[in-house]
Parts: sequence; structure tokens; C-alpha cells
Amino acid sequence: MAVTGYRLGLLLFCLGAILSLSLDRALVTGVSDTLKQGLNVTDGSTLVSADGSFTLGFFSPGVSTKRYLGIWFSVSNATVFWVANRDRPLNSTTGVLVLSNTGSLLLVDGSDQIAWSSNSTRPAPAVAQLLGSGNLVVREQISNAIIWQSFDYLSDTLLPGMKMGKNLWTGTEWYLSSWRSADDPSPAYRHATAVNALPDNVVWDADNVLVWRTGPWNGVRFSGITEAGTYKNMFTFHVTINSGEVTFGYTANPGAPLSRVVVTDAGVVRRLVWEPNRREWETFFQLPRDVCDEYAKCGPFGLCNANSPSTMFCGCVHGFSPASPAEWKLRETSGGCRRNVALDCGRVNGSTTDGFLVLQGIKLPVTFNASVDTGITVEECGARCLANCSCVAYAPADISGGRDGTGCIIWIGNLTDLRYVDGGQDLYVRLAKSELGT
Ligand SMILES: *[C@@H]1O[C@H](CO)[C@@H](O)[C@H](O)[C@H]1NC(C)=O
Ligand SMILES: *[C@@H]1O[C@H](CO)[C@@H](O)[C@H](O)[C@H]1NC(C)=O
Ligand SMILES: *[C@@H]1O[C@H](CO)[C@@H](O)[C@H](O)[C@H]1NC(C)=O
Ligand SMILES: *[C@@H]1O[C@H](CO)[C@@H](O)[C@H](O)[C@H]1NC(C)=O
Ligand SMILES: *[C@@H]1O[C@H](CO)[C@@H](O)[C@H](O)[C@H]1NC(C)=O
Ligand SMILES: *[C@@H]1O[C@H](CO)[C@@H](O)[C@H](O)[C@H]1NC(C)=O
Ligand SMILES: *[C@@H]1O[C@H](CO)[C@@H](O)[C@H](O)[C@H]1NC(C)=O
Ligand SMILES: *[C@@H]1O[C@H](CO)[C@@H](O)[C@H](O)[C@H]1NC(C)=O
Repeated sequence: MAVTGYRLGLLLFCLGAILSLSLDRALVTGVSDTLKQGLNVTDGSTLVSADGSFTLGFFSPGVSTKRYLGIWFSVSNATVFWVANRDRPLNSTTGVLVLSNTGSLLLVDGSDQIAWSSNSTRPAPAVAQLLGSGNLVVREQISNAIIWQSFDYLSDTLLPGMKMGKNLWTGTEWYLSSWRSADDPSPAYRHATAVNALPDNVVWDADNVLVWRTGPWNGVRFSGITEAGTYKNMFTFHVTINSGEVTFGYTANPGAPLSRVVVTDAGVVRRLVWEPNRREWETFFQLPRDVCDEYAKCGPFGLCNANSPSTMFCGCVHGFSPASPAEWKLRETSGGCRRNVALDCGRVNGSTTDGFLVLQGIKLPVTFNASVDTGITVEECGARCLANCSCVAYAPADISGGRDGTGCIIWIGNLTDLRYVDGGQDLYVRLAKSELGT
């Protein structure tokens, strides 16, 4: 007992010593989570969130010698998830971050040039703080009201508590933009929540060409990201669709490891989780997962199958054939497929003989030209589709209550970017009677 007590005392003494040492260090080196007005963070010093998770400071990416102000994960200082001066690097280590007397964060170089500003001007006294979420905020000192936050200015990373999407009143958009290369954080690919009939997380390249997408939100997950079910105990997804905003974000459930969603300089979107024992980021999902995620690879009414035994991943939806057989043979599939037998929808008053083929295990097609009604049943959806000559397919809008789902998505024109995915959804494709039951 005596020995145990002695050991405990020693332990407490050591802990106390470490604690006071680190407190001293904090005071001496200025390691703090807070920047007060008139003070500054110089190149070489940092702000660290109170729980130690996140660090703000100056860095040079890759082989570059230019200096940027960024925030990174303290466990992995190469993982910079926010950069202030992405387009305006500093040319020397003379940079300082100051909180001006008017409440703006300013990144100033040695010759007093302002390389970046938060533009958060306020007459009242303010303070900047790096929070335990990784959010850098500027608060009014008296009211505590947040007047600016880095979470509103996304770089290439989505952290728990951030959101992407659109504020429909102001038109403000929140989206991720990839670095140009490992040495250059200036923006290239864009990963955004497209506000179509349903939100769909898409990636555009630097020329504004859509390269891939997750598929529309179906109440549970984005249609093509079927693996989301395997980590729903760790994260909660938040999709907001109302007259004020269409946004997507996620929060970490209690006990969840560090995580992030990043769009890489190749436009690849990854959900990563920190594995503390191996000190590595593990990939939980990746978009594109395979060739079939290349946007519109198989063209209109084409259907991509990544498990196809040949290298010919594209087929046509049943009832359709390649629009150009010659190109199709040469693996040029973007021209897609054409309907074999015209629909019968010209007949009067819903007396059509058309019917529906159920495709199963599908990532739903792009919903740019689709329409959504969440207030009807799937049966009513089918009737509405049949009664409308323009309707080529329908599907439930929400499967949170089960696979059969509720609500209604109606597609007109072409079905674009259709693929099989493990655990995917049902899609009802309209066909002429003669094409059904064969
Ligand atoms: C930064 O702070 C230090 C010490 O508080 C001060 O000497 C220096 O002039 C400040 N630099 C700038 C650019 O404000
Ligand atoms: C990152 O960590 C490594 C190893 O701990 C260290 O050598 C390097 O200087 C750190 N870089 C920065 C920018 O702090
Ligand atoms: C760094 O140098 C480049 C080229 O001389 C210049 O265009 C840029 O404005 C400089 N950056 C800053 C923050 O002064
Ligand atoms: C701040 O305002 C300047 C001038 O209007 C603008 O160029 C800059 O992009 C703004 N900075 C931010 C972070 O919005
Ligand atoms: C079709 O419906 C319209 C309005 O519902 C009706 O006036 C018309 O007589 C119907 N035509 C036929 C051939 O049933
Ligand atoms: C949506 O409709 C427009 C206009 O008809 C068309 O140009 C565009 O290709 C359509 N998009 C898709 C994905 O079908
Ligand atoms: C058919 O559906 C489309 C898309 O929902 C809609 O724009 C159009 O008005 C409908 N046509 C009729 C006749 O109801
Ligand atoms: C559907 O696809 C065909 C073939 O690519 C194209 O000619 C046509 O314009 C498309 N229609 C729409 C509405 O996008």
C-alpha cells in the first residue's frame, strides 16, 4: 500500500511537472488558441486549439518554398485542411497574421502588403480563436457573436460541422476546391452539392466539365455511395432541403475517430478516417470507385457494369440498342443507346399500352431535368409517369422508410449516367409493350 501510495504521489508529481512545464511553454512560446487585437502570429509560431487537435500556422506545401497560412491536424501536420492565401502565396517568412483593430484578420507580408483579409470589419472589440472543431472564428468580445468563420470559406476539405451547398436566399455557395498540385494550393477541381431535383454531390474539373457524382440523395445516403451504411454508426449525415438552403454536411458521433472528406488534385473525393495506431488515414470511400463512375461513360440510356467480365463495361438498358454500333464496337460508348420500339404514349387519355421494366441495384441517373414530388406514393408516381408522354422513368424519392420508398422522381428526355452499384436502388424504365416480358 505504502509503495502504491508513493508511486501515485510520484505520478501526480510528474504529471504536475509536465503540466506546469507545458503551461510555461505555452506562455513562453505563445502557444494559445486565441489571437487578440493588436497581437500577431508570426511565421514559425502557431495557434493550437484548446484540445490540441488542430494547429494554425505557416507552411510550405511539397517542394514549394512559398509560404501559406493554413490549419492542419496536429497529429498529421502534412494534412492541411484550410488555407487562407491559396492564390497569393508569400514570398518570404516575414508574414504575420494580425487581428486588426477593426476586427479583420489580416495576413501581412514584410513589406506591409496584405496577402489575405477576412474582411470581417466591426467597430466592436473582437478576438480570434481556433476552436476544437478546427473552425477559426472571429468573435465580438462582449456579445460573443461570431462575425467571421473559416468554416464558411471551404478549401479542399469537409470536416464534421462544415457544410457544402447553397444558401437560396443570398445565392452564396459553399463548395470544396482541390489543390492544383501537392505544391500549389490554388484551386482546381470543384466538389459541390448540385441543387438539382435532388441534391447530388458532383465534381467539376477546371474547365467546368462534370466528371463524376455521388448520385442523388435518397433520404438515407447519396444513391451511389452504398457503403455509407457501413459507417453510419460513426457519422451522421445532414441534408437540408428547404426554401432557405440545400446543403450537405456531417457530424461525428461521440467516440468517432478524426475524419475528413477531401477532393484531391486529381479530382478524387475521399472520405478518410485517422487510424491512431498506424498513424495513417484510412479510405472509407472514394469517388470515382471504378470506371463506371466516369460521368455519362455509356451515354444516354447506357448502363455501366463494373463487374462486366470483359473490358466492355457499357451495355444498353433492356429495350435499347447502341446508337452507333460501329463506334460502340470500338469502345466509344458516349453516344449511348437508342430505343428499339417507340413508346405508345400518343394514345389518348392514358390508355397507353406502355409499361415499366424494373432495373435493380442502380445508382440513379442525373436529375438535372427530372422533377420531384415527395408528397405522393410510388404507385401514384407510376401512374403519373404513364400519363405523361415525356416521362421515360420514375423512382421513389425517399427510401428512408424501406426499399420500396415513397415520393416520386420523374425523368424526362435522356437517362444519363446510369450504373449498377452493389446495394443500389430500383429504377422503373418506361418501355413499349412489345419490349416487356421478353
Ligand atoms: C508582432 O508582435 C510583436 C510582439 O508583440 C511585435 O514586436 C511586432 O511588431 C508585431 N508585428 C506586426 C507586423 O504587427
Ligand atoms: C511536421 O512534423 C515533422 C515530423 O514530426 C517535422 O519534421 C516537421 O518540421 C513538421 N512540419 C511542420 C510544418 O510543422
Ligand atoms: C510574391 O512574388 C510574386 C512574383 O514576384 C508577386 O506577384 C506576388 O504578388 C508576391 N506576393 C506577395 C504576397 O507579395
Ligand atoms: C476581401 O475583400 C477584397 C477586396 O474586396 C477581396 O479581393 C478579397 O477576396 C476578400 N477576401 C475574402 C476572404 O473574401
Ligand atoms: C379524353 O379526356 C378529355 C378530358 O378528360 C375528354 O374531354 C375526352 O372526351 C376524352 N377523350 C376520349 C377519347 O376518351
Ligand atoms: C437537360 O435538358 C436540356 C435542355 O433540353 C439538355 O440540353 C440537357 O442535355 C439535359 N440534361 C440531361 C442530363 O439530360
Ligand atoms: C410531364 O412531366 C414534365 C416533367 O415533370 C412536366 O414538365 C410536364 O408539364 C408534364 N406534362 C404534362 C402534360 O403533364
Ligand atoms: C439525348 O441524347 C441524344 C443522343 O446523345 C441527343 O441527341 C439529345 O439531344 C439528347 N436529348 C436531351 C433532351 O438531352
